[in-house]
This record gives sequence, structure tokens and C-alpha cells, in this order.
Amino acid sequence: MLVLDFGSQYTQLIVRRVRELGVYCEVHPWNGARAALDGLQCSGVILSGGPESVTREGAPGLDEAVLDAGVPVLGICYGLQLICSTFGGGVRGGDAGEFGPAMLEITDAGSALFAGVEGGEGVEGGEHSVWMSHGDHVESLPDGFASIARSAGSPNAAIADARRRIYGLQFHPEVDHTPCGREVLRAFVEDICASERNWTAEDIIDGIIEDIRRRVGAGRVLMGVSGGVDSSVAAVLLHRAIGDQLQCVFVDNGLLRLGEGERVMQVFAEQGGVRVRCVDAGARFLAALAGLDEPEAKRKAIGEVFVRVFDEAADALGEFKFLGQGTIYSDVIESGAASTGAGAGASKVIKSHHNVGGLPEDMRFELVEPLRTLFKDEVRMIGRSLGVPEHLIGQHPFPGPSLAVRVLGEVREEYLEVLRRADAIYIEELRASGWYERLSQAFAVFLPVKAVGVVGDARRYAWTIVLRAVETQDFMTAHWSHLPHDLLDQIGTRILNEIEDIARVVYDISNKPPATIEWE
Ligand code: XMP
Repeated sequence: MLVLDFGSQYTQLIVRRVRELGVYCEVHPWNGARAALDGLQCSGVILSGGPESVTREGAPGLDEAVLDAGVPVLGICYGLQLICSTFGGGVRGGDAGEFGPAMLEITDAGSALFAGVEGGEGVEGGEHSVWMSHGDHVESLPDGFASIARSAGSPNAAIADARRRIYGLQFHPEVDHTPCGREVLRAFVEDICASERNWTAEDIIDGIIEDIRRRVGAGRVLMGVSGGVDSSVAAVLLHRAIGDQLQCVFVDNGLLRLGEGERVMQVFAEQGGVRVRCVDAGARFLAALAGLDEPEAKRKAIGEVFVRVFDEAADALGEFKFLGQGTIYSDVIESGAASTGAGAGASKVIKSHHNVGGLPEDMRFELVEPLRTLFKDEVRMIGRSLGVPEHLIGQHPFPGPSLAVRVLGEVREEYLEVLRRADAIYIEELRASGWYERLSQAFAVFLPVKAVGVVGDARRYAWTIVLRAVETQDFMTAHWSHLPHDLLDQIGTRILNEIEDIARVVYDISNKPPATIEWE
């Protein structure tokens, strides 16, 4: 399936919903239809919503290539209005929009688009709860189209030209607030477009491995691994595809969590012997961080040392034509580069917003990005299927600058030591209680603030540890987690009993926004 993006905040969701049906789907910009259709064996096209108005001169239009392709088309919101204006219907701007929940009355239950929606969640008095978000609305339908559903504010809430297989929805089927939406999308993708279901873990893996082999040939690939989900799964896939032509580099920056370096090396050893050179560069990172207490200055210093260390390791390991990266589809979409195409990635200069602060402009490799077409949950799915251990696949995100942004202010080895131990106790307790999997991210933070305590008959004057735990869908907003008091009690007691350099343990109850998830 091809999704053309007209700028809706929900475009990624449409792609995910289609892929959940087991059908491969790509998103391309609204004006990139022809190039996209050339490269895809496409069974149907979905036009997304968008912030524009078709009544405005110069608003994004419908590329003729879409209609030339002869496949079914579904317009959502702006997409529906675009279909109407393209075929000569009337769209009225401005004043009569609907925002939020609405009830949908299906007036043509026989339409192929509604096969299977009767009953189910969100149905009241025969009407379906749907999510609307539009300022303009369709006033008159073009020839050949019929209204197949209506809401209080939209007489043409769904339209169809069954003969030409062109459909439109004023509501958003891709969001959870439209319970019947998955079924509507299923009917379009499966029944109307007859799309092939070939997006399973095995098919994805086979496709990617074939892609890598075709692209890399006999060339050597260098890849930095961090122990995170994306770079690990990418490295395992590359290894399956090209074996020892892959050389990984793991930079131990001395800012990792307790036992983390060893765990990462072990995972790769167990994965059929992926070649990983571990570079122990902790002293260099700590030296670069000495005296720095400003978060961005710390990030920059870490980025610079990383580049130097990585570069030296690469030089020592011989010639490489390619650089492997764990870029995933959301990174591609967010950077606006979706139009450069999927597959194993195009060659270009590495961007400066690399995870750990930037690779140099003059470092020219061709990029190989095996996960470039996958969402995070798909990366996890194929990681499991490849046998990557669950503790790695299910782990919370960990920032590139590592513990340096969790020791507030200047980073010192003694602070890191205290933080590592506290964090390990915290995570161990979360795992043992079953809470780890329910949280999006949890970690300890070291505050260089001394507080007074009493242990036995002695006074303790020692550091403060913060416990952070959040729940979030997208990490853009987050809510602090309501961990049970008994569990917090157990964690606090253990940390204070087992680590004498800590006098206080506090729990962070800040939401994002206005706070951020990390403390720096
Ligand atoms: P914030 O603190 O911005 O974090 O609410 C959102 C998510 O991003 C992670 N994060 C980083 N990841 N380099 C990274 O690779 C960074 O500099 C960085 N800062 C924050 C954070 O852990 C959370 O998952």
C-alpha cells in the first residue's frame, strides 16, 4: 500500500495500521506519488489528512499518477475533500467543522468499505463513535459518488464510487478514538485492494537480508553498536546477510550501567560470533568531561570524543566501503527523508544529529540502514524472531550520552560508581515485581547534593538519589508512574542500606511537559 502524506499528524498511524494487517506499506510526500508508484507494486493508495484547505489556491493536489495507477483509492479527511474537489464536487471552507468525537450513521451498510463493522466497540443505537477533526466539509458530491454514511455535522461523512473503487472518509479510521476504524481499513486493504499479506517477521527478515546482500556485494561494513535495540538488531541482520564482512565497534565510554559492557559483548558472542571490537575509552571520556557542568557542553564533549575514538578504531580495522546504522522508519519520517526511498538506504554524508552527537562531515561512507523501513515494534518483532535475547529487546531506551546526563553537573567516577549501584538495585526490584515491562522508562539520577542521615548511632552525610519512572506512548509527553508505595519503600530501603554513600532517596513526580524525562 502507498500512503500519500498531506501533513496530517496521524500519517504514521495509518501506515502502522496497514502493516498490522500484515501488508507492507510506505509513506511518501503528497507530491512524490509518481516516483513512489514506480518503485512499488502497489495494491492501493491512501490519501492522508492534512492542515490545508482544498479551497485555497495552490493547496496540495492529487497527482494524476494515482488515478493512472488504476488501483483503489481511499481519502481520509483532507484526502476525501481532495477527491471531491478533483472530481468536481463542492467543498466549503472554514466555518462548519467538527472536532472530537461524533456519531456515524452508516446509510449504505452494503458498501464494501463497511463489510464487518456491524456490532463491536463504540456502537450506540446502531451508530458508530468516530473521531472527527476538520474545518472544511463536502457540500456536494461529484458525479458517480454516493454518500454511504453521515454524522450530525457531515452529511457526507463517508463516500464511495464503487465502480471506480474510490472512497473517502471524513473521520479518522486510524486513531483509537474510532473503534470501527481498524475494520474499515481492513475492508479497504484486504477486500477492496486485495493486498497480499506478506509482512511477517520471516518475510521481512528474508527481504532485508536479500537487500543487504545485493547492495553490499563483497564490500566490508563497519558498524557502531551501543547495546540498544536498534543497533543490535541491525547488526544481527547484517551478520546474517554478510557474515564476517561486518565488523562492529562497541565504544565503552565508561558511562555505562553496572555490567552493561560485558552484557553487550556477550549478546554478540552468542549471536553466532558477530565480530565486535570493544574499545575501552572510559578514561578519555571522563577527561573530556572534567570541569564541565552544563548539559549541552557535556553532550558536545561526548560526541566529539566518540567521533575520534570511533574513527581511530575504524582506521585500525582496515578499509570499509559501508557504514551500518540502526536508523528506523520513524527517524526517516521525522527527518523528512521518506521520499529518498526505502530499502537498504541511499548513500549520503552522515548527518550531524547522530545519536551520540555527530559524526564528522568529511567521514564519507555509503550508509547501510537495514531497519530503515521498520517501526520500533516491528524491530522488536524481528529481533525476537532472530533470537536476540528478551532482556535486550524489551529494554527501556537509554540515551546516547549515557549516565553523563544522569549525574547532574560535573561527571566524576565516584558519582558514577554510586549511581550505577543505585540504578542496578532499582531496576532489579522493578523487574522482580513485574513493573519494568509496564513502564516506558525508569532510571536513577545522581544529585551532587549532600544530605544528613543517621545510621545506627552515627551521623551520615551523603548524596541524594532520584528515582524516575514514566509511562508514555511517544516520549513527547509522559506521565510519572504511580509505583506502589510498598515497592518504593522496598527500593528506598535497599538503596539506603546497601550503599553507604547515599543519604536520601526521592521519587520524581514531574510530568512531561513541563519537565523532561531525563534530568539534563
Ligand atoms: P527527554 O529528556 O527529552 O527524553 O524528555 C525523551 C527521550 O529521549 C531520550 N534522550 C536522549 N537520547 N541522546 C539520546 O540518544 C540524548 O542526548 C537524549 N536525551 C534524552 C530520553 O532517555 C527519553 O527516552
